[in-house]
This record gives sequence, C-alpha cells and structure tokens, in this order.
Amino acid sequence: MRRKLIAGNWKMNGSLAFNAELIAGIRSGLSNQETKADVLVCVPSPYLAQVQNAIKESDIVLGAQDVSQFASGAYTGEVSTSMLADFGCRFVIVGHSERRAYHGETNEVVASKASHAIKAGIVPIVCVGETLAEREDGQTHAVITHQIDAVLQLLSDDEAARIVIAYEPVWAIGTGKTATPDMAQEVHALLRQRVALKNAQAALQVRIVYGGSMKPDNAQLLMNEPDIDGGLIGGAALKADDFLAIIQAAV
Ligand code: PGA
Repeated sequence: MRRKLIAGNWKMNGSLAFNAELIAGIRSGLSNQETKADVLVCVPSPYLAQVQNAIKESDIVLGAQDVSQFASGAYTGEVSTSMLADFGCRFVIVGHSERRAYHGETNEVVASKASHAIKAGIVPIVCVGETLAEREDGQTHAVITHQIDAVLQLLSDDEAARIVIAYEPVWAIGTGKTATPDMAQEVHALLRQRVALKNAQAALQVRIVYGGSMKPDNAQLLMNEPDIDGGLIGGAALKADDFLAIIQAAV
C-alpha cells in the first residue's frame, strides 16, 4: 500500500513572519488530528533554515522547489543538492511547469536534475503536465509520455521506484480549474504504465500525486482514485486550515 503524500508548494510566497505563523498553524492542527499521509512543505530557499527549525519534532518534512543539475562551481544563483541536504531537505520539486515555461527548462534538464537529486539522496518530485492547447489538440498522452520517459531513462529501477511524479495539468494550476477525478486518473494510470514498462515492481511503489487547484472540497474525490497518491498543492498550502483539511482528506 502506497502512503499518501501531501506536499505544499509555497512558490515565491512567504516572509519570516508569514512562514512562522503558517508552520505554527499546521503544527497545531496536526497535533489534534491523526495523519495518515506524509506531510511536506517545499519552501523558497532563503527560508530553508527557518522552516527546518520551525518543524523540529513535528511530522512535517522539508523540501525545496528547484535544484541545480550540477554538483558545485561557477553556476551563479543556483543551489546544489548538497546545500539542500545541509538544511535537512528530503524532497525537491523538479520541472515545475512554471520553471519549464519561464526558465526554459527542457525535458533533458529536468531529467538531469531528477537523476542528480535521487543519486544525492533527495527525492525529486518530477512534475509533468500538458497545456490547454496540447489537451485540446489531443496531445496529452504524447506530451506526458515524452516528459516522463526522459526522466525514467536516466534512472535505475530502484531509483524509479523512489521518485515522486506529480501530474499537474498546466491549465489547472492556479486557475481554480481542476481536472476531474476521471481525467486525472487516466493520466496517472498512463504514468504508472510508463514506469511499469521499465520495472513492474517500481510501478507498484512509485507515488504519483496530482497538482492543479487541489482544494479541501475536491481533494478527497481526487485521492479516491486508485492511482492518485496525494497532492502537490500551491494556493491552498498557504492557508493552514485548507492545507490541514487536504491532509485530513488523505486516507
Ligand atoms: P495550485 O498550484 O494548487 O495553486 O494550482 C499547484 C502547483 O503549481 O504546484
């Protein structure tokens, strides 16, 4: 049985004061409810130390939002896997559609980041997803297959079992439009099938989460689907009550 993962993606939001209040809210909520899911917050890099400290002795796990595909050296502005590990990061998002769209990240760059992270002991949350134009053009399966296969070909079977895949239809991110559970399940099943082509056991183990306007009122229906193993949550992860309600919906 795969354990659900509820991951908050704070994006470029937060401040020292805001983060302190948000983490305190999540911590106090979690102390009053039984949690069946892994709970993760992916925070902006400058706040890793603050949040590492704020989540001590709680069930919250720390993650980052991006990482370099290089180990160290002359890469101004980049952050390495070993730097993330220094702050206790266990996960890192790679290939978010905002990075693909605004920072020119190709499938090859995303694959290299994912491979680099898993080899360094940090679990990459590999984001894939089609745009609205691609969906309307009947390209969804081709786009998703291309995106995930680029990553899988750089991983061993064991590494493929340990990554997290996030299906995030681009048209659903931050728009309030959510994929229906059926639409999401169809793509999640495709993703699991791509992993199965590599290794059947890895396909059973790999966690595939959904992202794109996941909220308290749609989380449970989405996560009831057999291949949806949790959520990558943007907007609703910035409100403690909403984030807690989504965690509660993961059974
Ligand atoms: P959203 O963002 O929940 O605000 O749609 C999800 C994401 O981009 O990871």
